[in-house]
Amino acid sequence: MIKPLILSGKDVSATVYDNLLNRISNLKNKAIIPGLAVVMVGENPASKVYVRSKAKKFDQLNLCTQTFFLPEEIPEIELLDLINSLNEDLKFHGILVQLPLPKHIDSQKIIEAIDPNKDVDGFHPDNVGRLAIGKPRFIPCTPKGIMRIMSHYNIDLNGKHIVVVGRSNIVGRPISILTSLKKNGANGTTTLCHSGTPDIQNYTKLADIIIVALGVPNFLKGDMIKEGSVIIDVGINRVDFDNEKGYLLVGDADVNAMKEKVSAYTPVPGGVGPMTIAMLVENTIEAAENNIK
Ligand code: GUN
Repeated sequence: MIKPLILSGKDVSATVYDNLLNRISNLKNKAIIPGLAVVMVGENPASKVYVRSKAKKFDQLNLCTQTFFLPEEIPEIELLDLINSLNEDLKFHGILVQLPLPKHIDSQKIIEAIDPNKDVDGFHPDNVGRLAIGKPRFIPCTPKGIMRIMSHYNIDLNGKHIVVVGRSNIVGRPISILTSLKKNGANGTTTLCHSGTPDIQNYTKLADIIIVALGVPNFLKGDMIKEGSVIIDVGINRVDFDNEKGYLLVGDADVNAMKEKVSAYTPVPGGVGPMTIAMLVENTIEAAENNIK
């Protein structure tokens, strides 16, 4: 078996940012600075890390961003009030509410309160519906990043069998739609598996491309995949480890098993993760551009 190709989201995101510089400067010439409001409720450590890295990237690119850190106990009505004020605030072209939200808050109600034209996550039902009919406004960042990595490395989905593992609204469901759309760069035959699928390996073994987004460390083992398949690993799991941080980041795929068998895979970290932020920046720029059309 030849050495597998490493699908580097780190490299691909760098080219994405290069390509965005022109669009950013065109907007700046019109006195527009793309702006993103991030809303973070509570203390989830992983969410805090994501939120910080989003803000850092916006700062590096001299874009406008503000993170609203809110206490875990915030009443739903106060969160809705904040969303309403952000909808009206002209300096923010995009609004992102970091998920998951605490249990006492109805996440769907919050998502539906966001102006669909500012919904850079693409989670509002209006945007989900548009994506489902192949006429997207904003494509959710992680699935969009996965499609971009695959097109960058010329992984053609046309005629391929793609097996998605995980049906979340953030990744699994939208990537199952994107991969199967009748479009250039897509047109795949997609099977959506999930926690309720018996004998998942019967499906994953048939796959040319597996997109695994379950959040279970090392879930996908070497004996569950076909020789030469492509693995897109969306998992970023912390497992206890005796190092400075006290944990190690591992994906949903058992990377050592993968290396023996696959033709290409996304590493963790440095695979899908950096693409999510790059697509968030791209969607925010798109929102700012849409605003002047
Ligand atoms: N939590 C995990 N991924 C995401 C994402 O892409 N957007 C939001 N808003 N929350 C998340």
